[in-house]
Amino acid sequence: MFFYLLPSKAVLIDSNEELVNFYKVVQSNLPALLKDLEKHQNARDYFYRIRAADVNKMTEVERASRFLYLNKTAYNGLFRVNRNGQFNVPFGNYKKPKIKDKENLNQVSKALKGVEILTGDFERVLKYAQKGAFIYLDPPYHPLSVTARFTSYTSNDFGVEDQKRLAVVFRKLDQKGCLVMLSNSDTPLIKELYRGYNIAKVYARRAINCKGNKRGVITELVIRNYG
Ligand SMILES: C[S@@+](CC[C@H](N)C(=O)[O-])C[C@H]1O[C@@H](n2cnc3c(N)ncnc32)[C@H](O)[C@@H]1O
Repeated sequence: MFFYLLPSKAVLIDSNEELVNFYKVVQSNLPALLKDLEKHQNARDYFYRIRAADVNKMTEVERASRFLYLNKTAYNGLFRVNRNGQFNVPFGNYKKPKIKDKENLNQVSKALKGVEILTGDFERVLKYAQKGAFIYLDPPYHPLSVTARFTSYTSNDFGVEDQKRLAVVFRKLDQKGCLVMLSNSDTPLIKELYRGYNIAKVYARRAINCKGNKRGVITELVIRNYG
């Protein structure tokens, strides 16, 4: 949404420290990142070594470089960690992954100039949201079934309590006079939590799903507090 709208003033918040560090490095230290990206190899052994490496012993540039490398070479470009916060997606075995897309990274870096990028829980948005601001909330989706759970972008699962907490934040933003949009899966819980708001069904193609046959078109919900 941010890269589509390219607003002149924006705040981006996510609880995933690796994701936030990556965007911060692209924003302020792209030459160093481009240089570091040169070292990577698209090979199984190398992948598992980088995957197991301790990010706490790395510089911010090295962490960002590892994050992008894993995003390009891991199976389905998935980002998933276990309970201990360790990245656990297997090697994707792709022929020619574009690990260093200089042109694209340059554009991303330009777009991020002057943007505030923060790590943290979504409740932080309440501190920044001013009347009239447009807020897009893109949470981990509420699972369609118990077996379809994929909510582990961070080591803390995003459960029903978090969905409820987010709905409270949505209401508070609405009361503040913000324009709020949220996307989520089409489930009874989500419809219930946002009852009274403008709920539209949209058809989305799922790019990421471990089961190939589940990658078809599904319905999702786009919820807004405006018409
Ligand atoms: C569906 S993804 C959206 C990602 C992002 N909007 C994008 O387009 O790349 C959900 C995101 O929510 C983040 N997340 C999970 N729990 C969170 C929390 N409590 N507060 C803030 N962000 C959270 C995850 O790290 C993940 O990046």
